[in-house]
Amino acid sequence: MLSQTPTREFGPDFILDLDDPTFVANPYPTYKWLREQAPVYRWKTRGDAIVFSRHKDVRALLLDRRFSNDYRVWEFAQDEVQWPPEHAEYKKMMDNGLFSLPDADHTRVRRLVSGAFSPRAAERMREEIQRAVDDIIADKVRGDRVDLTAITEPLPMRVISDMLKIPDAMRAEFRAFGLAVIRGSILFNRTEELFATIAPMPRWLGMLREVIAERRKHLLENDLLSTLISAHDGGSKLTEDELLSLIQALIAAGSDTTVHAANWALYTLLRHPEQLALLRADPSLIRNTLEETLRYDIFGKGGIPKFPKEDLEFAGQKLRKGQMVIPFIPAALHDPEVFPEPERFDIRRDVSQTIAFSAGQHFCLGAALARQELDIVVGTLVRRFPDMRLSGEPVFQPHPIMRAITRLEVSVG
Ligand code: HEM
Repeated sequence: MLSQTPTREFGPDFILDLDDPTFVANPYPTYKWLREQAPVYRWKTRGDAIVFSRHKDVRALLLDRRFSNDYRVWEFAQDEVQWPPEHAEYKKMMDNGLFSLPDADHTRVRRLVSGAFSPRAAERMREEIQRAVDDIIADKVRGDRVDLTAITEPLPMRVISDMLKIPDAMRAEFRAFGLAVIRGSILFNRTEELFATIAPMPRWLGMLREVIAERRKHLLENDLLSTLISAHDGGSKLTEDELLSLIQALIAAGSDTTVHAANWALYTLLRHPEQLALLRADPSLIRNTLEETLRYDIFGKGGIPKFPKEDLEFAGQKLRKGQMVIPFIPAALHDPEVFPEPERFDIRRDVSQTIAFSAGQHFCLGAALARQELDIVVGTLVRRFPDMRLSGEPVFQPHPIMRAITRLEVSVG
């Protein structure tokens, strides 16, 4: 059970602080207070945003097409002229990304790539992912003590690099590129920090263009990049800029998320030995188990901001055009209206109302792939190490948007 004891004073003067270590260790008292006492919370310190935390509001917001994910719609968005010329290409890449494309282009791009990310396509990746997991375990497990993050950390980048057939020598650079894109994407108008974070971007983008140009010359079999290059639908194709943006999105959105989802899934299971025993007794519960681990203790701290495209009313609130609103998915996943006794971890729970991968237009493109990776890495570790036990508290590292576990030590017996 997660503790219900609030660690800070809640009340009218309460200021949400996602970096507070007590919040990072256990955000659920805060989410409960938000849902019950401040379901429309005005977060003055974060761009004067409005935070929604009840499941019905969060879900409705994710589905409401009057809102945009495009930060350029934000009322305090940066003026274009402040971008230095060396970052013009990065700016263009972000402006062509799935969050920023106008609706019609977004629908076209999603249609072009959806086949490559379908559950069936993820199923075809099973053997390749299993091989990656087995290789990493063989490389990292020596002796009785294992830091599970050493296994989860390299996996998603290896999988996405295998899918795109990124040359080995470039892979470490692409990982750094992905981390910089994630960090950069939430800095909005903190320009100095943003430009420091993305300083190596011209080199990374040059490498990515090189890989794409090379692949255009020699399309490969069984290769996501070749599939994306050749994808067409009724005469429409991805433009070069859309292709570049999509690949950076896959690298950025597909790496840290899956690493931390796997860490939390393992940590949650290890804290609930009776549920872990149930899973061992019936491995067919793995998919429901993973969905429940994401519901019970998800790695994300808040949510991805949305911006009304016009003045409007939502959940009884008048919102300004461009005002930042944030759907707090983790808080919604503990809403007792939808998930009775939300603080009970139950791998047989009905999780059909989960919104861990969002809903609507921006529903996670990589959901099927992430589920497959989690299924294989968690399933394999549970099978291979029947006596696996936590041998210490997890170590957290500050992270702007995730509750990032960077060390999770177990003994494997
Ligand atoms: C457990 C792991 C993951 C979780 C919990 C997760 C969650 C999410 C969420 C909540 C969104 C939607 C944000 C919104 O509504 O604005 C999203 C979008 C997205 N995700 Fe994931 N994700 C995961 C893994 C992945 C992976 C592995 C990939 C790709 C390889 C990926 C690619 C994307 C992309 C491209 C989008 C943008 C979709 C769009 O705007 O149309 N994600 N993800």
